[in-house]
Amino acid sequence: MIADVIVDLQYGDCGKGKVAHHLARTGEYTHVIRYNGGCNAGHTIYHEGKKFVTHHIPCGVFFGIRSIIGPGCVINVKKFFDEIDELESHGINARGLIGVASNAHIITDFHMAQDGQDEIIGTTKRGNGPAYRDKYARRGVRAIEIPELEPFIVDMYTELHDSPFYEESVILFEGAQGFGLDIDWGDYPYVTSSHCTVGGAILNGVPARSIRDVWGVAKIYETYVGNKLFEGVDPIFAKIREAGEEFGATTGRPRQVNWMDFDNMIKAIDINGVNKLVINKVDVLEEVGRWCVYSGINQFEFDKSADMQFWIEENLKDKDVEIMFSSCKDAI
Ligand code: IMP
Ligand code: MG
Repeated sequence: MIADVIVDLQYGDCGKGKVAHHLARTGEYTHVIRYNGGCNAGHTIYHEGKKFVTHHIPCGVFFGIRSIIGPGCVINVKKFFDEIDELESHGINARGLIGVASNAHIITDFHMAQDGQDEIIGTTKRGNGPAYRDKYARRGVRAIEIPELEPFIVDMYTELHDSPFYEESVILFEGAQGFGLDIDWGDYPYVTSSHCTVGGAILNGVPARSIRDVWGVAKIYETYVGNKLFEGVDPIFAKIREAGEEFGATTGRPRQVNWMDFDNMIKAIDINGVNKLVINKVDVLEEVGRWCVYSGINQFEFDKSADMQFWIEENLKDKDVEIMFSSCKDAI
């Protein structure tokens, strides 16, 4: 078994959807598995000139690859079916490809109502936190208990390890949210309720030693959505928000913007064991004409994009990561 994992190194919205789409296109994978989160996520994907925003469903469906919502996820059943209908109405033959892990958990109306009252951390109000709370309190509802999901239900062990259909599973793990929102490593309590790291991926039923590549996805600046104060005072951040179209794919909320926190990115690289690093949206800073990075107690300012990229490469030299800088129009 081989598994490649995509993780976000900041606060989500760094372009995991784009990287997943690019990798799935190679035709190398037998499965694409979403390993955490629920419909709080919004993955923006451009496929054959059309824009799609997926919430639950992994991007394998765009390429005829088996696409599974893993046991680390929570599912809103109505939104799951709406999403399938939406994809099918645009000619994506999703239904036959999707599997739902029998032991994934369900977001109920009660969870939605409770999360809807959150005023403290600024959740997406999609029922995510209450669904995970009930999972861990051992009073949750599992996917296998829902009659409408019956045609999709898979046992993850059979699917990945004991299937007569595949000689060997080659899995692409598509994560949601990011390191800064991780329940353990993020800025608690301003976090989501699931595991957004490589650790979270292997909890879905693959052995740790099957992992080949860990794709870390970041942006050349940072964004965060939620109630803590994140944005710097410089008016440039409002310009970056406009230029980068930094508004939530799920809730439409404006994302707070700040410069790249290099030390946090290093921490996320180290903890996830990233060996392929994609730094997205370099064209956005080129558009606004400012380049800065925070590291230690310093803020470094650069004259041009190439200087910032050079600085990042120099400071990641001992990490043994392949670094790719990418613009919005690039496939990766
Ligand atoms: P929850 O995941 O809805 O409970 O929200 C917890 C925190 O994570 C909030 O600050 C949300 O804005 C943030 N969050 C959740 N999902 C995403 C995402 O997909 N992208 C960016 N932020 C997210
Ligand atoms: Mg998103």
